[in-house]
Amino acid sequence: MKSNHIQVVSRVFAFAGLLVCSLAAGAAEPVATKGTVLITGANRGLGLALSKQFAADNYYVIGTARTPQKATELKQVADEVLPLDVTSDDSIKALAEALNGKTVDIVVNNAGYFGPTLGIGANRNRAATLKNLTWSEVLDCFAVNSAGPIFVTQALLPNLLASKQPKIVVISSRSGIITKGSGAGAYGYGVSKTAVNRAVRIMASDHVLSKCIVVAIAPGHNRTDMGGHRAHLLDPAESMKQVKTRIEELTKQHHGRFWYYNGKELPW
Ligand SMILES: NC(=O)c1ccc[n+]([C@@H]2O[C@H](COP(=O)([O-])OP(=O)(O)OC[C@H]3O[C@@H](n4cnc5c(N)ncnc54)[C@H](OP(=O)(O)O)[C@@H]3O)[C@@H](O)[C@H]2O)c1
Repeated sequence: MKSNHIQVVSRVFAFAGLLVCSLAAGAAEPVATKGTVLITGANRGLGLALSKQFAADNYYVIGTARTPQKATELKQVADEVLPLDVTSDDSIKALAEALNGKTVDIVVNNAGYFGPTLGIGANRNRAATLKNLTWSEVLDCFAVNSAGPIFVTQALLPNLLASKQPKIVVISSRSGIITKGSGAGAYGYGVSKTAVNRAVRIMASDHVLSKCIVVAIAPGHNRTDMGGHRAHLLDPAESMKQVKTRIEELTKQHHGRFWYYNGKELPW
């Protein structure tokens, strides 16, 4: 009778022990994600829409914003919101320090600047001409759209190289295509997008990035602050859903090439 009692008590303890161990293991185990994606300029527009797409599909999303305190919607979506001004060396270095030792599988260089000629109301359609062009318009566009992606990628190289298959995406624009259209006055924006396209080609053949897939993607004309909010334009939720699919599909076959959001290849 006594040994039966001991047996029951020891079984209860063994069961309780197992339960505690498995609960502890469950608590310690990191939640499995499909990978980590970092998106710059994620507080509004296409960056926010793309963050939502990845977050909804179980990716670990790191969204960057110049002013994280104001990035209310992004905070509800992303796993982490980190400060980043892509034109500031100090800010880029601080981002790299914050991510020290973390694997980043996908970097989406999305932050972009059109220039002061993108006004609202009466100013919206004012085309830039050589006559009213300013140094600051051209240099600011170059800093954000061309140099930003280069230096953000440089800073995050250790994080990317820790991934099994790192992907570097630059959200470019058809405004950068030199063989099509006139570029109509987009001295700052258009030229800076042509420049970043060239940077994509250079990165694609840079031996330090040989493990990475590097592409440019044009998102199409979308309803955002930059694109304008006219009804006929693309819905960012829809186009970014397609951009997410493009990014997931990337293989070495796509490397060093320029893609439209819908999967069509674009000329440089
Ligand atoms: N919308 C379109 O139709 C269209 C078409 C072709 C290509 N694109 C490209 O798609 C990307 C996103 O465009 P969007 O329409 O979403 O533009 P948007 O609505 O104007 O948003 C731009 C984003 O970039 C950020 N940004 C600007 N300067 C920055 C800097 N120095 N450092 C860090 N972040 C900065 C902005 O942050 P703040 O909120 O702090 O200003 C904002 O989050 C851009 O690269 C753009 O060129 C857009």
